[in-house]
Amino acid sequence: MMAMKLQPELADLLRQAYSGEKAAAFAYIGHARSLRDPEVRRAVKQIEEDEWNHRREVLALMQEYGVPVSRWYECKYHIIGRIISTACHVIGWFMPLYFAGRLESGNVCEYIVMKDYFNALGITKHDAILYEMAVKEREHEDFFQLQVKDSRLLPFFEKLFGWGGRQGFNTLDASKKDPDLAKVDAKSSGCRR
Ligand SMILES: [Fe+2]
Ligand SMILES: [Fe+2]
Repeated sequence: MMAMKLQPELADLLRQAYSGEKAAAFAYIGHARSLRDPEVRRAVKQIEEDEWNHRREVLALMQEYGVPVSRWYECKYHIIGRIISTACHVIGWFMPLYFAGRLESGNVCEYIVMKDYFNALGITKHDAILYEMAVKEREHEDFFQLQVKDSRLLPFFEKLFGWGGRQGFNTLDASKKDPDLAKVDAKSSGCRR
């Protein structure tokens, strides 16, 4: 049987996520190296591993539906990842942690929105994996939030960039086990876009 054709928006989301995960993994390599606290360093190394796993999982989805990898995104996110990776060594501890958390906050919704698109086609078999990836991103977000929560810079950055102690780009609860996946969508997860 021919694979079902995906909405162009979904195909593009998958392509961007695939390449974006590479940028994230690269960024975390540099980030981990710039950190002094061995425990935080280990945690960031683990997050890098998670992102490589996501990349593999997104690729499997793309292959199932015949979505080709975008050379443009691969190139673009390669460069972005390398730049952030290097920047981590020069801009102090706060900003890399802050912007990592802010980015992760948005990534949560990426996977929930993908689930919505699949569901719109009547495809529910990817619900569990997409939800699992969203929860992982939420765990990453929570980790970075914990790292910056006591910084005196946080209130200022929160005001400026819309993410921090009180506000984020999703309301997903990573601690909730086995929710009814049929009811998890962008709206119920507080995704703003
Ligand atoms: Fe990820
Ligand atoms: Fe992540």
